[in-house]
Amino acid sequence: MKMLKDNFGRTFPYIRLSITDVCNFKCGYCLPDGYQIDKSDNRKFLHLDEIRRLAKALSELGVSKIRLTGGEPTVRKDFFDIVKTIKENSGIKKTVITTNGYHLNKIAHKIKESGLDGINISIDSLNRQTFKKITSHDRLDEILGGIKVLQSFDFKNIKINAVLLKGINDSEDDFNQWSNFVKKNKIDFRYIELMQTGDNLDYFKKYHVPATKFTDYLNKNNWIIQTFGRDAGPAKNYLNPKFEGKFGIIAPYSKDFCKSCNRLRITAKGDLRLCLFGNTGINIRHLMQTDNQIEELKDLILKQLNFKKESHYLELGETGLMKNLSTTGG
Ligand code: 5AD
Ligand code: SF4
Repeated sequence: MKMLKDNFGRTFPYIRLSITDVCNFKCGYCLPDGYQIDKSDNRKFLHLDEIRRLAKALSELGVSKIRLTGGEPTVRKDFFDIVKTIKENSGIKKTVITTNGYHLNKIAHKIKESGLDGINISIDSLNRQTFKKITSHDRLDEILGGIKVLQSFDFKNIKINAVLLKGINDSEDDFNQWSNFVKKNKIDFRYIELMQTGDNLDYFKKYHVPATKFTDYLNKNNWIIQTFGRDAGPAKNYLNPKFEGKFGIIAPYSKDFCKSCNRLRITAKGDLRLCLFGNTGINIRHLMQTDNQIEELKDLILKQLNFKKESHYLELGETGLMKNLSTTGG
């Protein structure tokens, strides 16, 4: 079988597929003024049939996991049809989502029924006011309520992500709050170090704090770093036998972060992105139009992989094409 492998020996069993740029939240680091339609680009978001063909092609290239992202993926009316199509019409083994968790309490039963294999929920703070300040939405309760419903269905593989923000959610109190949460819940919690994008320079300067702020806390509290297999990806996990869940950290500025890269991204309009930050990647949508294009689509993706670079070169201040993370789904 043809497999996705780049010139640096990395393989790509994992694709992050954005299905919409639309997001209803206004997170300070991403879309502080809310989602705005890009008037210079009138292409529609990928259609159900295009997604079906893409997923088939990817699975034939050895991809075993697709993460649906956005924007906010669940704003799409046909969101559950997309999940169904991927699960039924491709060889993809795991379909998971990243969501801001809005209306999770209402759709939790559908998430369970859809057969989704995992969910990553963004919750920047367990404090209601802080949550509201960051996202402009007072919806922490419905998200936490949704998690409870998922747990009542015995839904496995729930993860929570938060962006680490100086003076907002990086105090010992914040960490202790998460610690209590992870103690009781079989849920993995991860902080993501704030990334600089084309849009958020001032925000970045004000709120960026190195991930060591959190890892120092973990070390002090006897959390043990987990060593990984080859396909683990760029997150680092920490274990503590007294806790149900795990902690983790995603530190894109750390040395060697890109060595464990195992993912490619596809935007909601069908652009292949070889790196979250890189400015390499082309549109591959024209080869998702009929079922008999799948071989061609596979060949194009394989060929493009030759252009994947070794690192994001973020330390050189490069932000690539990316204005914010809402088009590439983080
Ligand atoms: N830096 C770090 N994380 C970000 N996210 C969005 N924008 C940024 C940024 N500039 C996160 C979201 C979500 C994930 C998909 O990406 O909060 O958890
Ligand atoms: Fe991979 Fe790019 Fe992320 Fe680095 S920044 S881990 S190369 S996607």
